[in-house]
Amino acid sequence: MKNELLPEQLKIEKANEKDWNEITYLLKEAGLFPYIGKDENFKKFYVIKSSEIKNVICCFTLDIENNIAILKSYAVKNEFRGKGIGKNVAKRLPELGKNLNLRKIYAASWEAGNFWKKSGFKEVDLNKLLDTYFLKYAEHLEKNYPQFSEKTRYFILTLI
Ligand SMILES: CC(C)(COP(=O)(O)OP(=O)(O)OC[C@H]1O[C@@H](n2cnc3c(N)ncnc32)[C@H](O)[C@@H]1OP(=O)(O)O)[C@@H](O)C(=O)NCCC(=O)NCCS
Repeated sequence: MKNELLPEQLKIEKANEKDWNEITYLLKEAGLFPYIGKDENFKKFYVIKSSEIKNVICCFTLDIENNIAILKSYAVKNEFRGKGIGKNVAKRLPELGKNLNLRKIYAASWEAGNFWKKSGFKEVDLNKLLDTYFLKYAEHLEKNYPQFSEKTRYFILTLI
């Protein structure tokens, strides 16, 4: 069946220029497009395709500083949601992170907090964090999107 995907068919790869239209479509569909940087392009993105369906079914970026990453723009294409794909891809982040020499991956979420908890991340209290790179990002979110500040939750995946 067209929409049946086996998790082992999913590959995480760096996006290429040809993926950009599909990435922007996916982010618009997911309601995340207004929040990406104005100068954003395919270069920061990872995409997930299956060997059967060559189209982009999931995407995300990792902003990295001093071996600490912030996961952003994480979205699964609408028609493939609710099938365990988002979780399956998230469960592969430790492997990707280790290949990139990351120590920690952070994520902030307005709407999908429980998804991150179910996908191997641990919820953290911003007041107890010391990583200024992520704290600055959290500050940026609060300043620019105060309408979400009450419901923003923060998550961490510790790799080493
Ligand atoms: C959030 C998103 C990535 C989840 O992807 P998905 O492939 O549909 O998720 P999965 O099917 O792998 O779900 C894994 C688990 O998370 C739960 N879950 C899925 N989406 C959720 C959400 N938005 N909020 C809370 N829990 C969620 C599922 O119920 C499932 O629970 P289970 O393991 O107990 O069955 C996807 O819905 C999406 O792209 N949403 C729009 C963009 C978005 O919100 N991105 C996250 C930004 S922080």
